[in-house]
Parts: sequence; structure tokens; C-alpha cells
Amino acid sequence: MSFKEKFREGIISAKDFSREDIDYILKKAKEMVQNKKNSELLKGKILATLFFEPSTRTRLSFESAMHRLGGRIIGFHSGDVSSAKKGESIADTIRTVENYSDGIVIRHNLEGSARLASKFAKIPIVNAGSGSGEHPTQALLDLLTITEEGRKLDGLNIGIMGDLKFGRTVHSLSILLSNYDVNIYFISPKELMMRNRDKDFLRQRQAKYKEIEKYRDILNILDVLYITRIQKERFADVEEYDRVKNIYVFTKKDLKETKDDFKIMHPLPRVTEISPDIDDSPKAIYFKQTYYGVPMRKAILAELLSD
Ligand code: CP
Repeated sequence: MSFKEKFREGIISAKDFSREDIDYILKKAKEMVQNKKNSELLKGKILATLFFEPSTRTRLSFESAMHRLGGRIIGFHSGDVSSAKKGESIADTIRTVENYSDGIVIRHNLEGSARLASKFAKIPIVNAGSGSGEHPTQALLDLLTITEEGRKLDGLNIGIMGDLKFGRTVHSLSILLSNYDVNIYFISPKELMMRNRDKDFLRQRQAKYKEIEKYRDILNILDVLYITRIQKERFADVEEYDRVKNIYVFTKKDLKETKDDFKIMHPLPRVTEISPDIDDSPKAIYFKQTYYGVPMRKAILAELLSD
């Protein structure tokens, strides 16, 4: 079955991807990196971007990708300016917006929102972040960044650090990585460890991972350290957030302990977890990730929406 056929309902979860699927979409995205010219591939197509939660990178890179492929955009950037504010359900919103568009990109605070949306849609749905659940297109662009910046996925030693409980990008990233021969070090305080259900899935896949609390213990063996923000908006108790908010702050001093070809990544937005004085280091590639968001999303939209 082709990628287009397999994902005709959209991109919902990293769990739906085999290694072959990932390699295919990485290849397509690399072609987009090489061929920067705008095209008319999606001329006449309309993409709806329904963002019930804030976003800078995901919404704007999907919109940029759609424009660069000759398509058009409709949508909203907050649930407050849609009829969700009046109590409309996700199902009714989707059954309405599918009459106005050819594909829907949705971000919502409800875990499972994208899967729910896909059950009501006759057009492809893309999960742009579903609560604390998943953010699969971010994880795909993360893999594109790693490979475009000169690293192979097989054999990678990667630390994934920060809020592993609520951080949706790290859930999707570790699931995608489980298709490769990778050593994963989950680094978090006990309160923010990877959830059991995510670890169960990784164990079923026989993924190699360890859980630790102190990143400095393993800095010298890592190829990549992927840092995430502590997700303030997901905490029920603000005091609990205050206790952990500054638990990790990666500094210039830390960078000195890393291998020459080490890379530091972050899905962004960043708060305090990476000191800005390392932004200019060639080891810091988090703004390159934002760059690779457009070619990856061009590749995804081309697969889902082209005739
Ligand atoms: N990485 C990411 O999802 O960023 P935004 O929240 O700005 O879309």
C-alpha cells in the first residue's frame, strides 16, 4: 500500500508509522529541502488550520508550506474566536469545516482530539498537537533535522530531557525512534517521567531506553540532547510547576562536556531550559528545526492533498 493510501485519513499518531513510512516521508521532505522553488502542486486546494491552542511554529509552517505549494488557507488561531466558544463539539466543527476545505490541521487541548476528528471527517486530518498526547509532524521534522544535519538514526545515542509526562513532542519522537536501532536516555525529575502507557508501547517495540534524572552523568556519550519545556499549562497545581520549572538549565559550561559533533535540539518555544548564550554554537540546531518544519510539512501536504 502506498503512503498516500495508508494515510488517506491523515497523520494522527506516530504509532501509525512503520520504518518504511518514515523513510519514505523523509525522502520526500529531503526533495523539498533540495527544491526550494514554489510550485502549483496544490493549486485550487484549501487547507483549514483549526488551532484551539496557541502556536507559532506549527500553524505558520503549515500555512507557509501550503502557500509554497500554491494552495490556500482558511482557519482560526484560537478556540475563543470559533463557535467552540459557544459550546460546539469537535465533531460538529469537523463536519462543518470539511465542507469548506480539502484537509484539516487541528491542534486541541484534548488528548485524542485528532483521532476523534478523523472519525467524523471525509477529508485528511493532521494532528498538530493533541493535549499531552502526541505531535507527530513535529517528530517527523525532528528526524528530518537530525538526518539533514549529518547524523544517521541507527546507532544514535539521544537524550530526551524535560517534561516527559506532558510533553507531546517527546511522545511522538520516542515512538518514531523506536523504529530504529537507537539508545534513548529519558532524563526527567520523577514527577515528569515518561508515562507508563508510552513506556509499555516502547517495550513492546523492544526499544532500548534508560530513565535517569541527571543529564550531566551522560553528556559525554550523547550524539543529540533533545530538551523540552516544562509544560506549565498542563499542571493542575501551580506549586508543583514552581518546584520543577527550573530543574534543568543547559548552559555554555555543559556544552564544553559534549562530543565535537554533538547537537542540541528543542521543539520550541523555549523558556529557561537552554541558556541563550549557546544559540550561536554550531551544536545548537533548534532554529534549524524550525527551518525544516516547512519542507516536512510541504511533503506531508503534497502526499495528503495532491490529486
Ligand atoms: N514546536 C511547536 O509545536 O511549536 P508551536 O507551539 O509554536 O507550534
